Amino acid sequence: MSKFEYNFSLKDYNTFNIDVTSKEFFACSCENDLIDFLIKINSPKDIFVLGGGSNILFTKNFDGLIINMQNSKIEILNSNNDFVYVKADAGVIWDNFVEFCVENNFYGAENLSLIPGTVGASPVQNIGAYGTEAKDIIFEVNAVKLINGQKQIFSNSECEFGYRDSIFKNSLLGRNLVTSVVFKLNKKPIFNLEYGNIKEEFEKSKQEINLRNVRNTIINIRQSKLPDPKVSPNAGSFFKNPVIDETLFGIISQKFPYLISYPAGEGKVKTAAGQLIDKAGFKGFKLNNVATHSNQALVIIKTGNASGAEIKYFSEHIKKAVLEKFGIALEPEVNIL
Ligand code: EPU
Repeated sequence: MSKFEYNFSLKDYNTFNIDVTSKEFFACSCENDLIDFLIKINSPKDIFVLGGGSNILFTKNFDGLIINMQNSKIEILNSNNDFVYVKADAGVIWDNFVEFCVENNFYGAENLSLIPGTVGASPVQNIGAYGTEAKDIIFEVNAVKLINGQKQIFSNSECEFGYRDSIFKNSLLGRNLVTSVVFKLNKKPIFNLEYGNIKEEFEKSKQEINLRNVRNTIINIRQSKLPDPKVSPNAGSFFKNPVIDETLFGIISQKFPYLISYPAGEGKVKTAAGQLIDKAGFKGFKLNNVATHSNQALVIIKTGNASGAEIKYFSEHIKKAVLEKFGIALEPEVNIL
């Protein structure tokens, strides 16, 4: 069932629980309804595609049309000895897709356990965690053009994936809506346990390394570091980890030798935004009804009834402090509307 509404409250549609409205709201449960709707409206409107609302900060009422995909099918398309191709609708809750893979012994998605949001956002944002990114398992992306409802298929390389980035956030920004994603998963056990303390966790617990245990370990690590949006409204990492010039980092790290960095392509390094905020003295910092999380400074949480504008102001305050101390500019990972 699809439905169209005016002046629709978005409070339950964003994990910061900001109480704003959308002038028009279309919740759509199947691709054909969406195409009919787009053909019918036939006018260039200010359209925003909202997934699980887990990576967005609303600072005011939205004066356009929001489309929210609620299609929810997961199907196995085909498989061979090595790989299986699974199609998941845009409206599927991301973690339900990961659980489906683990349940069926399909390898590749497990490190992305418990990431909030929906399948539709996974290629747009190229979601990632614990050494894996959505781009590692995406085979192709099915989308429609917002202007006329025309169907499109993007291969993995056509998506132009980067760190928390894709063509859908750049040259195609605001032009397409992802309707489903086809994932290519391994049928043979291949694990990626190199990130941070995953291996250590396995050594400590003496558990067998299998798909279920990897998923559970990732879930435990996430729950120990990241706040539950149902308890402390948040949108995950508020900023991206800044990628800067290796030479610039060399200069900065002479003054601050403790700063962490990871290789990020030729002449570039990725710094840890959480550490920068932490070392600038802002871990657990609270201002009125907004704070950084006490276990992970990169996550901004709403502790009371703060507005989106207050949260934005808080984030700008932190950005300024990090720039002043380290000379590194933070960029929001969260979409601010
Ligand atoms: N760190 C600190 N202080 C802090 C936070 C982090 O010193 O307050 C240090 C950590 O000790 C570690 C380094 O910074 O050495 C990196 O921290 P962490 O492993 O927690 O990961 P992150 O780089 O802060 C990224 C993603 C997360 C993802 C984790 C794990 C981004 C913007 N964030 O965070 O993704 O879960 O890695 O893979 O890339 C999200 O996108 O919303 C998200 C939560």
